[in-house]
Amino acid sequence: MGERDDEGPRPELLAALAGHARTFRDVFADARGLRLFFSPGRVNLMGAHLDYNGGPVMPTAIDRGTFFAVRSRTDDRLRLASTLEGERLEVVLDALPSRATGAWYDYPLGVVRRLVERAPAVRGVDLLVGGNLPIGAGLSSSASICVGTAFALDAAWGLCGSMQDCIDAALRAERHFVGVQCGIMDPYAVGLTRPGHLLWLDCRDGSTEHLPLDSTKVAIAVVDSGVRRNLARGAFNQRVEECRRVLEILRPARGDGIVLRDVSLSEVEQRAGELGEKLARRARHVASEVARTFEARAALGRGDLTRFGALMSAAHASLRDDYEVSVPELDLLAETAQGIPGVLGARLTGAGFGGCIVVLLAPEACEGFGAKMQGVFTSRFGRTPDVWFFRGDSGPREVELDPS
Ligand code: GLA
Repeated sequence: MGERDDEGPRPELLAALAGHARTFRDVFADARGLRLFFSPGRVNLMGAHLDYNGGPVMPTAIDRGTFFAVRSRTDDRLRLASTLEGERLEVVLDALPSRATGAWYDYPLGVVRRLVERAPAVRGVDLLVGGNLPIGAGLSSSASICVGTAFALDAAWGLCGSMQDCIDAALRAERHFVGVQCGIMDPYAVGLTRPGHLLWLDCRDGSTEHLPLDSTKVAIAVVDSGVRRNLARGAFNQRVEECRRVLEILRPARGDGIVLRDVSLSEVEQRAGELGEKLARRARHVASEVARTFEARAALGRGDLTRFGALMSAAHASLRDDYEVSVPELDLLAETAQGIPGVLGARLTGAGFGGCIVVLLAPEACEGFGAKMQGVFTSRFGRTPDVWFFRGDSGPREVELDPS
């Protein structure tokens, strides 16, 4: 699990991490033996709400994420601080809080708990977390911090043998400590994506492939609606529960061992009466999104980015009408983007209920794109949305600063 930044660390990342190291010194008084790490966020292009239904997803890591400054201690204390939040935690490792409190540090703490379960005799650490990823925007700040914490603590403790171990620790922390019934997509995307590729992740068996996406032919933009929802507060878990009920109803006829991804659109239509209107709509989104995601993969393979984009836009309509995870702000952003010449497709990304849209567009359409989006949004909602063009990223890594 070494350095994977093929082109060498980016100057803006080096500058940001140098600032992070200075803050560490201010917070913890001493920065001897300090090590610095970066862990990316992710954006998902196809396969919305399929991961917890065993379906395929197509995310990619992005070049903004979480910063970590870590130093080993000689005693058994754990100190967690953030440049983004005020609360700090200081505890001894054999008396770690057993429940999440709703603080930001629940995420790294969940990972620490998971790691020290395996090796209770490790020494303490000081960990400062920060970053440049918008929090709660659907760009997976939570998986970025969880996978990154496991990766960074591996430097101090050596308890993760592989990226897969870091991913597993992150998943357990989010599901069992923080309490979000998240699927596997986010930590896999953070941990396993390569620059210039989309990750094809089959969430039934966790198998992955790297599908090339030529950045000279297409750009990825993300526009933030500014609407924030806390995933742990229910709306996401409610969708997971609805899908579980759909499967419970359909399973007797189909037998054990199926996941919702196995149910075709025609089967959903045939059995819509048994499901009732709401659950039939949820099942319709899942079945149609599975079909769209396979089609998007085929389109990407033959270089048909126009079709790929059209499938993204169709996914937005399905998320809005059948899965009901959109909000008016996201709908306006998606519709506005879809109407701009050179835009191939646009849809909400992440869980929805707020957060961002992701847009696939021709490189020549990038100029002026942000201003058009901001103009329309501002006149309707009275505030200016952030617009970013992301590059791909090579995943969690240690970053060494030039000693000069
Ligand atoms: C959130 C979850 C993911 C996934 C997406 C929807 O981001 O964390 O696991 O379910 O929503 O595709």
